Amino acid sequence: MESFRDRIDNNKVPKHVAIIMDGNGRWAERHGKVRVVGHEHGVDSVRSVVEGAGEIGVEHLTLYAFSTENWDRPKSEVQALMELLVHAIEAETDSLMENNVRLDAIGDLEHMPSHVLDKLNSCRNRLQENTGLNLNLALSYSGQWDILNAAKKLAQDLADRKTNVEAIDYDLFSNYLSTSHMPNPELLIRTSGEYRISNFLLWQIAYSELYFTPKLWPDFRKDDLFEAIVDYQNRERRFGKTREQLTR
Ligand code: FPP
Repeated sequence: MESFRDRIDNNKVPKHVAIIMDGNGRWAERHGKVRVVGHEHGVDSVRSVVEGAGEIGVEHLTLYAFSTENWDRPKSEVQALMELLVHAIEAETDSLMENNVRLDAIGDLEHMPSHVLDKLNSCRNRLQENTGLNLNLALSYSGQWDILNAAKKLAQDLADRKTNVEAIDYDLFSNYLSTSHMPNPELLIRTSGEYRISNFLLWQIAYSELYFTPKLWPDFRKDDLFEAIVDYQNRERRFGKTREQLTR
């Protein structure tokens, strides 16, 4: 049987894919393990998906790795996730380099522990000349934070007379968001059978295709990404227009 990889139309690969990686805790529970083991296995999924996205020419991959709300989890789990991030970045930098991947992060990074930021920055610096996939980690991120942060920066620029009210439009506002340097995601994937956005990219997903899969994140691999992309490619994206307008 033809694989999902073979069924991908190389001319219609989304430039930006965003993923809500969910279900690590349930995966651990089903395997009789503590939650952090689910997160650890989640790193294998990250590796596979990064590889797969690079292979088919996705330009930006944004992963929801830690939300603003995740700070409210038990202290031990937050700490374990931070350590896991540091270890994962440390362990994966060589292979990211080999795969020509760049690394970046979006979110309220000032709230991240400084040793995590240091690791992130050194990895980002090492990978900055790469020209392949841009791997973008959403850390201490929420869509509402992003919009509020943009509004604050814009308000400051208005106060400083660097811009004026009449100039505010979609493009100008978008430039204040943490994603200003990338296109909006054409495809948003959420694992674990939950049908929610959970405060991920809110402004940016206005016209994204949404793909939900029951697979738990630690079971998700590049083939699952390819399946999602085949599904995406079979959809008709109308951006509020009629089908007739699209074919004209
Ligand atoms: C959601 O599952 C997952 C997270 C909050 C963390 C995701 C982080 C990783 C996969 C590791 C990140 C590593 C890198 C390198 C980016 P959950 O705990 O909410 O699962 P549940 O809903 O089943 O409880």
